[in-house]
Amino acid sequence: MDKFEPKILGFFCNWCTSSAADLAGTSRLHYPPNVRPIRVWCSGTVDTSYVIRGFLEDADAVVVGGCHPADCHYINGNYKARRRIKLLKTIFETLGLGEDRIYLKWISASEGVKFVREMTKITEETRAKGKSPLAGRWDI
Ligand code: FES
Repeated sequence: MDKFEPKILGFFCNWCTSSAADLAGTSRLHYPPNVRPIRVWCSGTVDTSYVIRGFLEDADAVVVGGCHPADCHYINGNYKARRRIKLLKTIFETLGLGEDRIYLKWISASEGVKFVREMTKITEETRAKGKSPLAGRWDI
């Protein structure tokens, strides 16, 4: 039987976490190819419906990456992201859908090493959890 390889959807802020991913790349650091990044202007632009749809379309985990608190280029977008993710985690926990598959990480543009470390950790944790109960349910 093939080894389970999780699909991890990443919504990364243009100014911080996406730049950290670029830095990791230009520094020739390796991180698991399981992470599929989507660049967004700010973590605050990530609607809860994007995360839910990611799960329905086969993601096994979703990670939102943004600027550190007080560093958001749009003043408070990351605080909005934090509130939305907290709400979403509560809903997922209530429904038994795996709130621990939703991640929120603050990774600045200079933290390429941290980006690699976090993506590797998230991939290993998700691999251990197995397939998401919501994966591939978009047709329902
Ligand atoms: Fe990076 Fe808002 S600009 S989280």
